[in-house]
Amino acid sequence: MLGPRHLFILTGAGISAESGLATFRGAGGLWEGHRVETVASPEGFTADPDLVHRFYNERRRQLHAVSPNPTHRAIARLQREFRGEVTLVTQNVDDLHERGGSPNLIHLHGELLKARCVFCRRIRDWSGDLDTATRCGNCGGNLRPHIVWFGEMPLRLEEVGEALSQCDLFASIGTSGQVYPAAGFVDLAHRAGARCLEFNLEVTPTNPLFHESIVGPAGETVPAWVEDLVSCQDRPET
Ligand code: APR
Repeated sequence: MLGPRHLFILTGAGISAESGLATFRGAGGLWEGHRVETVASPEGFTADPDLVHRFYNERRRQLHAVSPNPTHRAIARLQREFRGEVTLVTQNVDDLHERGGSPNLIHLHGELLKARCVFCRRIRDWSGDLDTATRCGNCGGNLRPHIVWFGEMPLRLEEVGEALSQCDLFASIGTSGQVYPAAGFVDLAHRAGARCLEFNLEVTPTNPLFHESIVGPAGETVPAWVEDLVSCQDRPET
């Protein structure tokens, strides 16, 4: 039997938890102490830009203190060694996939290490703090974090839809499946005829859509899965 040819991997906050970054909805989750609307919506930014900048400055600084973990590295290995196509889409705004060696990926919800002008929309790399006095070098407008907030359109959805329609193996890793459109990707992959796997610490509410649920820390389950997939390619077909 032929193995999979086009993998689609969706990752969420759980993949970075083992690097020390808090997830959103777990105990002690990232939103704790803040209403989501306050720090993650355009209205919240208009109402209190200082607070929003402080929130993301703190998260940007945390990136300097963390490193990629075995799951990031295993996915990068899969991207390098799998002989078919691998589409990697993350909901995470950290840069741990890149530092783990991933050659390409789609950041559906933006990137902490980028800033965007609210007027001309130019995007630039940004590793330090932002505040309300920071200006765009192009038009002098205010800069905001390049993060997709609630009520805003996720990035590169057309490419994502195309890849979902072509995938034959879909893996969701470390996401609670509560935020759309990413939460609906399993449904699209399922309809495209893909085998759907979930890697999580627990069985999530979207679980009935998955063919298989692999429960446990991603740092253990994902490298083992990648090893299997990569080594299977070398076995002669029977
Ligand atoms: N291994 C595997 N799964 C894990 C691990 C781990 N070590 N640690 C946590 N998880 C799982 C949790 O069980 C949970 O289901 O990761 C999931 C994290 O869920 P959320 O905190 O909801 O994060 P995520 O699904 O990425 O959130 C989606 O919501 O607020 C928005 O924009 C934000 O991108 C984010 C989106």
